[in-house]
Amino acid sequence: MSCETASRNATAPEPGIAPGAQTLDVRAIARAIGRHGRHPALPATIPGFDAPFFQAGLAGYSDAAMRLIARRHGCPLCVTEALLDRTLLSGGRGFAKADLGELHDNVPGGEDDHPLVGQLMGSDPGEMAAAAVKMVEQGARAAREYRELAGGGAIGNGQLAIGRDAPEASLPSHSDPIANCQLPIATFQAIDINLACPVKKIAKKARGGHWLAEPQGAIAILKAVRDALPERVPCTLKIRRSYDDTPEMARNFMRIFDAAYDLGYAWATVHARTVQQKYVGPSRWDLLRDIVQQRPGRVVFGSGDIWQVQDIFRMIGYTGVAGVSVARGCIGNPWIFRQARDMMAGEDPRPPTIAEQRQVLEDHFALALRVNATMRDPEHVTGKTMRKFAIRFAQHHPAGEEVRKRFIGVKGLEEWRGVLGEWYEQ
Ligand SMILES: Cc1cc2nc3c(=O)[nH]c(=O)nc-3n(C[C@H](O)[C@H](O)[C@H](O)COP(=O)(O)O)c2cc1C
Repeated sequence: MSCETASRNATAPEPGIAPGAQTLDVRAIARAIGRHGRHPALPATIPGFDAPFFQAGLAGYSDAAMRLIARRHGCPLCVTEALLDRTLLSGGRGFAKADLGELHDNVPGGEDDHPLVGQLMGSDPGEMAAAAVKMVEQGARAAREYRELAGGGAIGNGQLAIGRDAPEASLPSHSDPIANCQLPIATFQAIDINLACPVKKIAKKARGGHWLAEPQGAIAILKAVRDALPERVPCTLKIRRSYDDTPEMARNFMRIFDAAYDLGYAWATVHARTVQQKYVGPSRWDLLRDIVQQRPGRVVFGSGDIWQVQDIFRMIGYTGVAGVSVARGCIGNPWIFRQARDMMAGEDPRPPTIAEQRQVLEDHFALALRVNATMRDPEHVTGKTMRKFAIRFAQHHPAGEEVRKRFIGVKGLEEWRGVLGEWYEQ
């Protein structure tokens, strides 16, 4: 369930609030970025991060299959969905599926699933720090040891240099990107702390976006994680622009935001909706622009209402962010990344042909089957997951509504192929 809420799709695609943005010449902005390059901090922080956009963490969607498809279409960086620190520390056992983040969806998808940022969320600084170390080390130590580190209060106070002295996780070579994904294949390239998820508190403990109402606790988490990780592992932050629209909460945001950079976080991705808004209503690009202007020199990414490729460059041009997090706009639309690269090359963004759509539908299903291979009924699980994507994929088809209806009934691979044969023949 993670950061999903019942209202996650309540916002019909509409632009963020950005007076004057519609008149910007997005083609010129894209071309200028293509010619002069993206912000130097991007590849300097994460080698390979060579374009000013990435695929956001999207609980329930952004597993290795979706990430690999995005990368094949030019996405330079992906973030996993938010994983609850305790889920990671417990190895996934003892936590209901409905709780936050599943280990399964956060497992790297092999050599091609890089660079990858692992996202964590939680309520306790010690547990968050231990979980971050475990994530970076890919569980190189015994599970019990990480739990002891989390409970022992030794993290970040210099008593135990966890992470710093730990050996790099060994990198076995794998030819198959997904089949071996339960094994430690490679470490994550950065750790992202989620202070944005609007899902309610549990047992009166804050987590995700609810930390915006408790800035001291939020900063304690940011500090514990940064202190626990070796310097070579960048830390980043995902945060909402505020908890709500009161001046007090806006001040809280600034306090946490500033603290993150002071602590050495490489950048923050600011979702320009409040926590209270969840996913409903427009995001406030105007306020995002204010934040960027108030803190020149800071590397800031923007999130909210990126529905089509032009929005990426419109947000950069309007707000001055260094880059953009693409979220709902890339569900069933990996071509948004190819189109962004088209525009940076000064070309028109190419819509996907029917043949390209079919190829992606086949590849995504095949990858998802392999991601789900260890489940009891992989085909059933995959059919269910892929239905969510198919509804979005169908939007590219000239007979979108009919195709969508056909996909809704799909339960397994045979039926999936049936729809492809019926609607996606040349
Ligand atoms: C279904 C769903 C799941 C999400 N899961 C996560 C998550 O795990 N981590 C995260 O940082 N953001 C998550 N988000 C938030 C998105 O990354 C993004 O900030 C938000 O959707 C705003 O962008 P958009 O309006 O362009 O979709 C999720 C959003 C949705 C709709």
